[in-house]
Amino acid sequence: MSTNGSHAGPGAAEQTALDVTAAELGALSRAGAMGPTGRPLRHIGEPAPLTEHGPARVIAMCNQKGGVGKTTTTINLGAALAECGRRVLLVDFDPQGALSVGLGVNTHELDLTVYNLLMQRGVTVDDVLIKTNVAGLDLLPSNIDLSAAEVQLVTEVAREMTLQRVLRPIIDEYDYILIDCQPSLGLLTINALTAAHGVLVPLECEFFSLRGLALLIDTVEKVKERLNPDLELDGVLATMYDARTTHSKQVLARVVEAFGDKVYDTVIARTVRFPETTVAGEPITSWAPGSSGARAYRALAREVLGR
Ligand SMILES: Nc1ncnc2c1ncn2[C@@H]1O[C@H](COP(=O)(O)OP(=O)(O)O)[C@@H](O)[C@H]1O
Ligand SMILES: [Mg+2]
Repeated sequence: MSTNGSHAGPGAAEQTALDVTAAELGALSRAGAMGPTGRPLRHIGEPAPLTEHGPARVIAMCNQKGGVGKTTTTINLGAALAECGRRVLLVDFDPQGALSVGLGVNTHELDLTVYNLLMQRGVTVDDVLIKTNVAGLDLLPSNIDLSAAEVQLVTEVAREMTLQRVLRPIIDEYDYILIDCQPSLGLLTINALTAAHGVLVPLECEFFSLRGLALLIDTVEKVKERLNPDLELDGVLATMYDARTTHSKQVLARVVEAFGDKVYDTVIARTVRFPETTVAGEPITSWAPGSSGARAYRALAREVLGR
């Protein structure tokens, strides 16, 4: 896997108003500059280096709509947090296995996956864990086997708490555990929400993406009431933003109206570089380190670290 800067060339030509480095974002926020959300950017300090790790904050990337950027955000936020010296575990919790594929894993050749971790006694996180090419970034991979877990879990004792239980032994070893949820609000997603401290909702800047959000928020509230009192909505991340269209701006304005401060200042612009990274099998932060997409996810990492 190549991580040299040679791919980064075209990224430099993509400079837009949104395209600021993490340090620039800090400077802009101190100067009270306006972000794409229409609010002044919040001040974010430098992420402090860590001398020891854990316990992890567990964040579920959740939206029952497909194609909104959950998997892309899991990979690239994870890689950007790892760049800041954090120990990060990514959990592929979608039977499609897109997170695993996006990190260069051949999902057909896996002996053990998250499915085995959930369903078989004696299988531990260490048995399933894969170290990625990014230092500090580990993966619990999945493939289509996981779709059977959705059915089989129904008859388990404490079925909603299965993921929480299997992650518990390693929670002190990581600073962040990011769970890439499938596009549904079924039992796997309920498991992710039960295991999580926070929910990050990636939201495509398209009118129809606002539909279904009420159901998502309602589900988060129910899990909080019944299963996981610690659960919080960490933030809403606008993705696939196109600064040239009024449509994107209108949708973003509506999202800010509805979620206020919960909307991250960082907005992820629409760019073909993300689909390209899936083919490359690595995060945009290493595949095209100087691209606007890489910089956006670094800025998001700083916001996540600052909250
Ligand atoms: N900001 C973006 N701009 C353009 N394409 C994107 C962006 N984010 C994700 N994509 C692409 O859109 C598709 C769906 O994204 P993905 O992260 O897999 O969504 P989800 O996990 O919510 O289904 C993928 O092909 C991905 O490469
Ligand atoms: Mg996905």
